Amino acid sequence: MLIVLAGATGRTGRRLIPLLTAAGHGTRALTRSGDPVPGALAHRCDLTAASPGELDAAVAGAGAVVWLAGPGGGPVESAEALDNTAATALMDACVRQGVPRFVLVTSKGTDNPERSPDFLRPYLEIKAKAEAHLAGTGLAWTILRPGGLTDEEPSGRVELGKGLGRGKVSRGDVAAVVAELLGRHDLSGGALDVIGGEHTPAEALDALAPRLNIVDFLFDLERLGRVHLAVFGGSTGEAMAEAKAHFTGWQVSPRYVNYFEGPELHFSRSTRWRAEFGEGPGRHSGKQEYWVMVHNELGEGVFRFGLLRPEGSENHDPALVAAFHAFREHYPPPPS
Ligand SMILES: NC(=O)c1ccc[n+]([C@@H]2O[C@H](COP(=O)([O-])OP(=O)(O)OC[C@H]3O[C@@H](n4cnc5c(N)ncnc54)[C@H](OP(=O)(O)O)[C@@H]3O)[C@@H](O)[C@H]2O)c1
Repeated sequence: MLIVLAGATGRTGRRLIPLLTAAGHGTRALTRSGDPVPGALAHRCDLTAASPGELDAAVAGAGAVVWLAGPGGGPVESAEALDNTAATALMDACVRQGVPRFVLVTSKGTDNPERSPDFLRPYLEIKAKAEAHLAGTGLAWTILRPGGLTDEEPSGRVELGKGLGRGKVSRGDVAAVVAELLGRHDLSGGALDVIGGEHTPAEALDALAPRLNIVDFLFDLERLGRVHLAVFGGSTGEAMAEAKAHFTGWQVSPRYVNYFEGPELHFSRSTRWRAEFGEGPGRHSGKQEYWVMVHNELGEGVFRFGLLRPEGSENHDPALVAAFHAFREHYPPPPS
C-alpha cells in the first residue's frame, strides 16, 4: 500500500523508509524542501503552512499515514503549531480523503504529563492533545510513545506496552515497530509505550494481541464435532467459494448478510484475522444467538459466523456454547 510519511527526512523517518520498501509498500515522503528523498516519492509540504487542500493532496490515495514529524526542540509555540495544529489538520485530511489508518508517534509520558519535569510538561501536553484528537477521528489509529530516542544501532529488540518504566529506544527500533504496526490492523485503537527490550517487534505485538487465526478457530470448533455453524454473507463470490472449500459440509445460511464493501477479500490461514465474539437476542429470531464477526487485516468486517441451534431445538447445544465461551476467553479482543 501507499504510506504517507510526515517527518520522512527526520532521523526516524529516514530509517523507516527502507523497512517499508522491504515490506512491499510505497512511500510518499512529505518534505519542506521538496528535495529528493532516497527510497520514497518526495512531496513538498510544509505541514505548518499547508492549506486543507494541500493536506488533502498530500494524503490522497494513501493506505496509511505515519506521523514522525517533530519540531526538534524549540519554543513551545513551534511545538503547538506542528505537534498539535498541523498533526490534527493532517488527521482531518485523512478523514476527508478516506485514508483508513494513522500511526502517530509521540512520546512516553503523554498519558500523564503532570508527572513530568516542568520543562517537558507543556510539550507532552501538546502531543497529548493530538493523541486525543486522533482517538476521536474514527480512523484506525495507533499511538506509539517512545522513551528517550537514541541514534544507536537498532538492537531489533524492544518492550511494548502501557505504562512502561523509564527507558530509551533507538530510532531504528522505533522505525521497526512502526513498520510492523502497519501490518497489524488488529492493534488499532490503542496507545503503546516502546523502549528497548528483549523481544522482536513482532513478538512484542503478538504478546499484546495474539494474531487471531479465525480459520484455525473454526477448524478447532469443527474438531469438537457436531458443529452447526452458519456462514452468512460474504459479498464476493471468490471469498464465499473459499469459505465453502474450507468448510465443506457446513450449513450455509440462505440469509444473505452483506458486511463487506470493497474490492479485496482474502480468506486464508495466513491472514491475520481479528474476531469479535458476541451474544444476545437475534435481530430476527429474538432468541439467544452466539456469533463471531470476522475482520480482515484492513479492519473490515468480512464474515459473521453464527452458532446454529440443533434442528428442531429451541436451545443451543450446551457443548458448543461452552466451546464458544472458551475460545472467546482464549482469543481476547485487541487492547483498547
Ligand atoms: N520520546 C522522545 O524522546 C522523543 C524525542 C524526540 C522526538 N520524539 C518524536 O518522535 C518522532 C521522531 O523524532 P526524530 O527525532 O526522528 O525526528 P527529527 O529527526 O527531529 O525529524 C523531524 C522531522 O519533522 C520534519 N518537520 C519539522 N517541521 C516540519 C514542518 N513544518 N513540515 C514538514 N515537516 C516538518 C522534519 O523535516 P525537515 O527535514 O524539513 O526538518 C523532519 O523530517 C517525532 O514525532 C518526535 O516528536 C520523541
